[in-house]
Amino acid sequence: MRILADCDTGIDDALALAYLASRAGAELVGVGSVHGNVAAEQAADNSLEVLERCGLGTVPVAVGARRPLVGDARFAEEWHGRDGLGDVARPGPRGLPTEEPAAVQLVRRAREAAFQGEPLTLLATGPCTNLALALLLEPELTSWVDRVVVMGGALRVPGNVGLLSEANIAADPEAAAIVVSAPWRVVLVSLDVTMQAILEHEAVERLARAGGLPAWCAAVTQLYLDRYQAVLGRRACPLHDPLAAAVACAPEIVRLETLPVVVELRGEWTRGATVADHRRGADPATGGHVRAGPNEATEPLASGSELSPVGVVEAAVDVDGPAFVEHFVSLLLEPEAGSARLAGEAGGERR
Ligand code: BDR
Ligand code: CA
Repeated sequence: MRILADCDTGIDDALALAYLASRAGAELVGVGSVHGNVAAEQAADNSLEVLERCGLGTVPVAVGARRPLVGDARFAEEWHGRDGLGDVARPGPRGLPTEEPAAVQLVRRAREAAFQGEPLTLLATGPCTNLALALLLEPELTSWVDRVVVMGGALRVPGNVGLLSEANIAADPEAAAIVVSAPWRVVLVSLDVTMQAILEHEAVERLARAGGLPAWCAAVTQLYLDRYQAVLGRRACPLHDPLAAAVACAPEIVRLETLPVVVELRGEWTRGATVADHRRGADPATGGHVRAGPNEATEPLASGSELSPVGVVEAAVDVDGPAFVEHFVSLLLEPEAGSARLAGEAGGERR
């Protein structure tokens, strides 16, 4: 499985990269950074440092969009720290980002992989700006990638930055609308499932006791535990981005439902909401036109408004959260044979 990750590397993005490095068969071909939890430059530095710690110091990291398609970037320092990784003392990366912008790297790597007969999986754990820019640069991109796994949205549950909106989608709704409605396979890993994947503080202590990379992951996660205490009522945090990374490797770990979805671009209270058509009779095959019946709602989500076209996504609607979290912790404690992390150890890349 060849993956190109696009991240606004904060705490759970870092955990997602560490997860991928620990998993056999997950080959990270590149990472893009994007505004979101922190500035795009900081996110790139954070990715570089995590990758170096995982023995993946040779994976190219490209800086991406500094701001959304519309409006200004808004960072989440309160949740991820000023540096995006919990403000623990750390040396920073040894390496530098590539010269190439993230959207250009994405198009180039996707084209190469497609022509080598091994199309990439794109994994977006931040705002969708780079993916949207890549689609604008090269519409053929949709035929070059295997699928696009996006951590974002809230379909049947409340939002986390707005009443109905989730942080990654709300940070660039126009970009999310472009990505969701493009003719490629989008798997949406929304708060509906990520809020079921809760890492308890006892598990973080297990990581801390192990030393090495797991202990570093435990250290950067402390601030996330602090902040989520107010939401969850206990010292624990959701594994939003690691769950999306796991779905990129093995979609069968979640229950997927094909749903028409639009991203709300206006709305006094709802900008950035992901509106799914859950109505009986909604026909994903036609982009969400509701089949009219005598007592059936006939107001179609239809082809969307002139602003936001309808996308048809495979939405993750259920997961065995505790089983996933145990799998995540075990993998960090014991990387799989053949994983990049073990290969990196052999190559002396780990700190
Ligand atoms: C998402 O928002 C970010 O703060 C997290 O890294 C995650 O990608 C959760 O809504
Ligand atoms: Ca993220």
